[in-house]
Amino acid sequence: MTQFPKAFIFDLDGVITDTAELHYEAWKKLADQLGITIDREFNEQLKGISRMESLELILAQDPKLKDMSQDDKERYATQKNNHYKDLLKTINPTDILPGIKDLLEAIKNNNIKIGLGSASKNAPAVLEQLELTNYFDYLVDAGKVSKGKPDPETFTTAAEGLEVAFEDCVGIEDATAGIEALNKANMFSVGVGSKDQLSEADYIVDSTTGLNFDKIVKRYGEWKQ
Ligand code: BG6
Ligand code: MG
Repeated sequence: MTQFPKAFIFDLDGVITDTAELHYEAWKKLADQLGITIDREFNEQLKGISRMESLELILAQDPKLKDMSQDDKERYATQKNNHYKDLLKTINPTDILPGIKDLLEAIKNNNIKIGLGSASKNAPAVLEQLELTNYFDYLVDAGKVSKGKPDPETFTTAAEGLEVAFEDCVGIEDATAGIEALNKANMFSVGVGSKDQLSEADYIVDSTTGLNFDKIVKRYGEWKQ
């Protein structure tokens, strides 16, 4: 008999929509201004972690910036966020990544709960802009947790809000830190992206078009046994 999960918990940036790219663009502009070069490979480390942690990793690239005051750090983080929010103004439902809407529909049709587990303070606004808020039974963003990914708290808080046991949850992530968080929470981890970055995931697909409900449920059932 097929074992169905009781909840799906989605990461937002890079899974539901390509905001991971907009975060990168905004960080790159700030890094350029500070005389630091970052590339896409470096950016992989920034995926899934908080705004201030990302800034710290960027500043660590230049020893001269090591002693920057907290006030200056806050100022730069705000500047990045303002630029990011400008970039967000352009997004709309056509920016939902391929396969995501079908997956959300399939989950709903099977009466399975849906949660969000995002490290972004902008997450609720992004879901609104994509007109997806109604699909979600419970949202966790950076404001609801004290420890970000790779700590499992983002996902365990979502499961608690959904009133589902951790091992009955499937989590979908594009970041190494997110897969680590899901695994620590004892949830079935689905990675979207490159095998190099996501090798620890229980199941990996190349892109969101590979996120097929029946296939995920099958793999989940095998994992659960
Ligand atoms: C995560 C992104 O979802 O949110 C990170 O993967 C981002 O790249 C983090 O830094 C924090 O986002 P925000 O919107 O609160 O600055
Ligand atoms: Mg992500």
